[in-house]
Amino acid sequence: MEVIVVTIEKLSNGFEYILVQNSSAVAKIALQGAHLFHYCKTNEEPLLWLSDISYYEQGKAIRGGIPICWPWFGFHKDKTLPQHGFARTSIWKFVSSDEPDAKTSSVIFRLTHSDETLKMWNHKFDLELKITINDSLKLELKTTNLDEGEFTITQALHTYFAVSDISEVSINGLNKKPYLDALTLKQEIQDGDIFFNSEVDRVYQKVDGEVILRDKNREITIMNSCSSSVVVWNPWIEKTKRMSAMREDAYRNMLCIESSNAYDDAVVVKPNSSHTLEAVILSLHKSS
Ligand code: BG6
Repeated sequence: MEVIVVTIEKLSNGFEYILVQNSSAVAKIALQGAHLFHYCKTNEEPLLWLSDISYYEQGKAIRGGIPICWPWFGFHKDKTLPQHGFARTSIWKFVSSDEPDAKTSSVIFRLTHSDETLKMWNHKFDLELKITINDSLKLELKTTNLDEGEFTITQALHTYFAVSDISEVSINGLNKKPYLDALTLKQEIQDGDIFFNSEVDRVYQKVDGEVILRDKNREITIMNSCSSSVVVWNPWIEKTKRMSAMREDAYRNMLCIESSNAYDDAVVVKPNSSHTLEAVILSLHKSS
């Protein structure tokens, strides 16, 4: 008999998450941030990197998985406001789940404006995240403007991938794309595949095709819709020492490829209109 289960689980400190199990995969999604922090296909290694010293505490974003950066990506010019917005540390509502077949489950989460969010970002909104879990992973982040006037968002599905060793991976699909180097604030053009031998923090622009992460034993393909920017980040040695909830050597086994609307790919959402950022992630195990 196939097992399909969607349950609400609780850690001893009260931190709640949804556990999804079907015949293709297991996934865990925290109500804080609608944060997918575990996805593992049956008989494979976890796809997502998750810090083993991560916080599971209200108000502190989980380090790893797929944090939702919204309604702004990166720093806010008002330094009292949180980096990457408030969605990742807000408590979302678990709306529903669906199991169309033994291999597939989908779960829907919702966040709407409150007195607290209006203080940080003075707009009325409905934000919905649908996660579909089967042999692939699909995330659809739908922003609806409930305000009288238009608003602008930047956002990212800040995916942390688990990698065997950062010095052995490459990213394909961004050759010749312009990027903003967040370390120098200069505009550059990508030349060939991306390899890692120092800190990388870049917003790739005009991205219109698949991005492929090549590792020793697997190949991961990321397909984005309604997005033309992709953030690539690895903090490398020195920055990792300053990061919260990360061990000093953590940079070796993680890499972020973020499906985004960032920098000049900001989105204007008109009243009573919606925008959906979508990412589909496929992983293929390579037999050695
Ligand atoms: C990335 C940014 O998206 O997120 C980096 O490009 C940043 O500059 C990283 O350091 C992690 O951010 P945080 O807020 O989760 O520590």
